Amino acid sequence: MAEPLIVTIDGPAGVGKSTMAKRLAGELAIPYLDTGAMFRAIAWKLGQGAWEWDDPSLEAALEEFEFALSGTGPETVLSLNGTPLGNEIRTEDVGMWASNVATRPVVRSFLKRAQQNLGSRFSLVAEGRDMGTVIFPQAPCKFFLDASVDVRAERRLLQLQLMGRPADLDELKAQIARRDHQDRNRAVAPLRPAQDAVLVDTSDLDREQVFSALLEGVKQG
Ligand code: C5P
Repeated sequence: MAEPLIVTIDGPAGVGKSTMAKRLAGELAIPYLDTGAMFRAIAWKLGQGAWEWDDPSLEAALEEFEFALSGTGPETVLSLNGTPLGNEIRTEDVGMWASNVATRPVVRSFLKRAQQNLGSRFSLVAEGRDMGTVIFPQAPCKFFLDASVDVRAERRLLQLQLMGRPADLDELKAQIARRDHQDRNRAVAPLRPAQDAVLVDTSDLDREQVFSALLEGVKQG
């Protein structure tokens, strides 16, 4: 059997990684792996404050979790213990909890094993913070998306408004900046581009332009 193809997309919160990963995976007819959803699911299941538990308690709780992937492209489904993950994990609070549990090495090594296991069985468009640097350093095709905090907060505001969840722009900017700071400065697997990643600043690009840049990169990669 041919080696699975892994395409990695890393970048900060709200830069549009999931939208692009879904679409690119659809084009390539392979699943996409939303690794932020894995951190969110763990944070949501364990609840507020779990990031302060001691290592043995966290390890014991993580042993109960099993992730599975099915489908391809936008129809990819990520499940935890047999239940597909839904919108319950998509709040700003759960995003911050996820960022907190993501600082814990025991959580990161548990998810590293789970993500690499999926990557050994499926071709993937894998998106997150450390896909190109830590989880799939051998991937032939790596991207790092970035955009200013202001642009990302405005895009997030629009998304929330479309979902009927009005939000405050300044509050969103503060939340994004807080999560960026924690994700970029943590000791283990901090957010940064892999040396061989293609950098795409999406601040002045629309979705079509970003998608074309990624598709072009995959064709050349
Ligand atoms: O991408 P998303 O915003 O859903 O991720 C939630 C949080 O999970 C991030 O702020 C980050 O702290 C953590 N994360 C991570 N490594 C990944 C994916 C997400 O540390 N590969």
